[in-house]
Amino acid sequence: MSDFEERAREALAQPKNVGEMNDADRVGTVGSPDCGDMLRMWLKFEEKDGKKVIDRASFQAFGCQTAIAVASMATELLKGKTPDEARALKPDDLSGDLGALPPMKIHCGQLVEQALKSALDGPDQDQAVEPVADTLAAQLKPKSGGIKIVPLD
Ligand code: FES
Repeated sequence: MSDFEERAREALAQPKNVGEMNDADRVGTVGSPDCGDMLRMWLKFEEKDGKKVIDRASFQAFGCQTAIAVASMATELLKGKTPDEARALKPDDLSGDLGALPPMKIHCGQLVEQALKSALDGPDQDQAVEPVADTLAAQLKPKSGGIKIVPLD
């Protein structure tokens, strides 16, 4: 197992900042055309020393383990960043202590990057088309029958 895989496995054992954020200022949702995985990220801002910075970030994912591990890292390291600083982060920055993404996993990091950008560029919560409290599970649920979503332990 590579160092990256080992660190990703550790991050997955206790992912940080998982779940919807009811008082978020922004929310962004993206799907990967490469694999069909989805990721939603919520952001809450605060004013610090006269600057708008990210106070908290959280996520939900229907995605691979790498996307979840990177999102866990990213939501930690986003704290205290201005929107412009956050926007400048690339997948390898967002993976933080996990280290550089292996070539096969780059699109997993890009999913996190795109969810972050979608949240940064998205409408304010009070202008959001959909309620931010919606979960991915609720969004994916068909109108009738079909799919059963089982949360992992
Ligand atoms: Fe789809 Fe990783 S395989 S995000």
